[in-house]
Amino acid sequence: MTSSDRASAMDVDDLPPALSAMWRVCRLGYQHEPGLLVFAFVMTLLAALPDALLALWLKLLADGVLSDDRGAVLLATAGLALSVTVTWFLRTVTTRLTRRFRDRVTIVLEAHVAQLQASVATIAHHERRDYLDRLAVLRNQVFVLDHMYMSLFSTCGWILRLVVTVGLLVSIHPLLALLVVFAVPTVLSSTWRPGVEREAEERNAPHSRLADHLFGVATTAAAGKEVRVTGIGRDLVAGRRRAWEQWYGPIAATRWVSAGWHGAAWAVFAAAYVGAVALVATRLQGSVGDVLLILAAGARLSAYIGATVGEIGFLRGIWMDGSRRLVWLERYAAASVADADLPVPERLSEGIRLEQVSFAYPGTDRLVLNGIDLELPAGRVVAVVGENGAGKSTLVKLLGKLYEPTSGRILLDGQPLGRMPADDWRARVAGAFQDFFRFELRADHSVGLGDLPRLDDRSAVTAAVGRAGADDVVDRLEHGLATQLGPTWPDGVEVSFGQWQKLALARGFMRDSPLLLVLDEPTAALDAETEHALFERFAAAARDGTGGRITVLVSHRFSTVRMADLIVVLDGSRLVEVGSHDELLARGGQYAELYRIQAAAYG
Ligand SMILES: Nc1ncnc2c1ncn2[C@@H]1O[C@H](COP(=O)(O)OP(=O)(O)O)[C@@H](O)[C@H]1O
Ligand SMILES: [Mg+2]
Repeated sequence: MTSSDRASAMDVDDLPPALSAMWRVCRLGYQHEPGLLVFAFVMTLLAALPDALLALWLKLLADGVLSDDRGAVLLATAGLALSVTVTWFLRTVTTRLTRRFRDRVTIVLEAHVAQLQASVATIAHHERRDYLDRLAVLRNQVFVLDHMYMSLFSTCGWILRLVVTVGLLVSIHPLLALLVVFAVPTVLSSTWRPGVEREAEERNAPHSRLADHLFGVATTAAAGKEVRVTGIGRDLVAGRRRAWEQWYGPIAATRWVSAGWHGAAWAVFAAAYVGAVALVATRLQGSVGDVLLILAAGARLSAYIGATVGEIGFLRGIWMDGSRRLVWLERYAAASVADADLPVPERLSEGIRLEQVSFAYPGTDRLVLNGIDLELPAGRVVAVVGENGAGKSTLVKLLGKLYEPTSGRILLDGQPLGRMPADDWRARVAGAFQDFFRFELRADHSVGLGDLPRLDDRSAVTAAVGRAGADDVVDRLEHGLATQLGPTWPDGVEVSFGQWQKLALARGFMRDSPLLLVLDEPTAALDAETEHALFERFAAAARDGTGGRITVLVSHRFSTVRMADLIVVLDGSRLVEVGSHDELLARGGQYAELYRIQAAAYG
């Protein structure tokens, strides 16, 4: 079983069990803040006691007054006074403590989630709809995950109060313990509710994502121009409204139904409470103190059960769920990096071989690459051509180990790439992609990111800018490499698409000695001559480079493609031709045809 099989085998339905997941999050908190965690927990329990004992003091007071027992009255008065003041004091201290603990642990959890997401070896989780929904929920939940500790502590506090209160009730008559039984329906409905509501939310998440997306399109600067030119603004607003209604309708209905059941459950308890008070007052001939106790304790019982159940409901609805997703992500990240037992070679002497490589994007069945057998010789420049959608970019992503092949394997000098750590391999891969990202940082950092350890190495950045032919872009920036990119930042400037592309290219050239350099149409926005000149330079550098570097370039321009040592023609997921420019022309196949058409168009 390869690591990708295992990662994809972890499907959306098998979230880990809630209790063990919560336990995991507790341990995480304990690892980082052991002292604060224990202290806050003990204080929460202590704070629960005086409150629960209030009913006892009331009973003692009443019975003491009626039987003229000064000792009892004094004791009860002191107890009452203490209850009130100590409760207040403990609550204040506990709140401060838990706040502090939470603040510290929040940052730990956020960093943990971000780190986990970044450490997933492939990017499949960014493109699978079911994973996206799950991650979106987790991203929102991580901000409340820290509340889990408080919630857990106070649940324990409420349970302690409950136990004391039931003890007091039983001391009058064992039958009164039955009150707890009548509270069971409220417990059931409270635990059932959040799950049902959450499920409705998750089921309708695509509508909510659509609504968010449309809102983004309607309001962000990037889309602004086209929104105005096409005049779709009004449709966007209406579409967003519709998506929101489709999201909200079923959720509101679910909430009404669950609220109805909940109300009914509380009615059952209320009836039992009234019955119990009447029972003590009439049938059991209790003292005035007993009646007071059941009035106070019974009323508290309902409040305590309500609070316990509410707290457990929260725990279950959000935090248990959040911790399960967190543990799921931990396992998913771990599974995706498993099985890496081979080192990445220092240099390539033979090259990269693809054996019967087939690939379908996760969550889909269509093979985007089908049975590809291909040899990429060390130290050579390989061009990949083919129509849009032929699978060129996908091939590049597989080489970069952004995905694992669905079947077949990729070998580096005969060793399977699948068994090498993705991070180590990617540290040896450089290049630029068709769908590059605009890192709105200072220009030097935006480029320097391409080789993180040398982020601040000005000469390395300058060299990369030179290799990418991006000097003109930097020259035109007001403060050169020190210019902030992105108009929404203070002193930030916007640059054109072509300029962003050149900066992305420079970022791709930061690494000095990659084993694999991929250039997936990174220069589509440049004119043919600039592209040609650039590629001429790369190709020359690649050929006399040491280490057996392989350069893979994807381009539509034959002026560029023809310089490659080897040209690979893809057509509808299959490899149809491989050879040098001259060989392929002589063969008179698909390449020759495409070349002829383009030559005629430009000729
Ligand atoms: N993330 C994705 N999920 C599902 N299908 C995809 C994804 N990316 C690309 N595809 C599909 O895979 C096929 C090959 O895409 P791609 O490799 O980008 O082609 P090319 O780079 O040759 O234009 C296309 O049909 C495309 O729709
Ligand atoms: Mg492409």
